[in-house]
Amino acid sequence: MREDKGVSSKPVAPERYIIRQVSSLDELREAFAVIGAQFSPPIPPEDKRLDDLVRRYPQDRSLMLLVQREGRIIGGALGFGSTLRILGPEPSARGKGLGRRLLQTFEVAAMRLGMRTLNLGADEAKGFYLRLGYHGKSSLHKELPAPSRVQDVRLKRLERLIGNLEVGQTVTTDAMGQVPSLFRSEGISASPAQASAPEDSVERCIG
Ligand SMILES: CC(C)(COP(=O)(O)OP(=O)(O)OC[C@H]1O[C@@H](n2cnc3c(N)ncnc32)[C@H](O)[C@@H]1OP(=O)(O)O)[C@@H](O)C(=O)NCCC(=O)NCCS
Repeated sequence: MREDKGVSSKPVAPERYIIRQVSSLDELREAFAVIGAQFSPPIPPEDKRLDDLVRRYPQDRSLMLLVQREGRIIGGALGFGSTLRILGPEPSARGKGLGRRLLQTFEVAAMRLGMRTLNLGADEAKGFYLRLGYHGKSSLHKELPAPSRVQDVRLKRLERLIGNLEVGQTVTTDAMGQVPSLFRSEGISASPAQASAPEDSVERCIG
């Protein structure tokens, strides 16, 4: 039998991405700078969106998420109230399901705060949000299930399923599924009647 000398079977170390809340205003500013740099043109640190986030930090920091790889911030998802303002991983971390994971984590955090609808403006990457269950014309929305005691138990399970992201290891289908399908598998449903986001109330994610 012939040996294939050109092929190496060295194991590849998994990349570990940790998604967590920002823990200080300095971290919020750092995460904003990293995410802002992902846009073209880049969103500068003096942008009004950062002022809004800083103002809302005390009550809404559970909606201010960063993602770290090897201890370095490489992206995040930042918002407040029922609005996602800015989301993005660095290019080296794209196409691996991290954007989806960030958005799902943001959605669960919003559900925990009792939000029934999430809003965003997406001039860029609109297809990404449509893919993840958002709908609308100039601004995009997604209905979230109402909180209840039963759902609280289910949400905890959902949070465990979403967790952090390891690329290079097997990720369960459930954990990689879209939030609506996770909601369904957890017996959580969102009623379309809950969708009520007037277009003019939406603060934009971009632009
Ligand atoms: C858009 C962005 C957040 C996507 O992040 P990502 O980590 O590459 O996305 P994921 O790997 O999680 O992709 C999830 C799904 O969305 C799809 N997708 C990703 N970007 C897409 C796009 N621009 N248009 C349509 N679908 C897209 C993926 O194909 C994948 O689909 P699947 O269900 O078939 O697997 C990332 O490209 C980015 O940060 N861009 C620059 C900043 C930006 O535009 N941010 C969003 C506005 S706030």
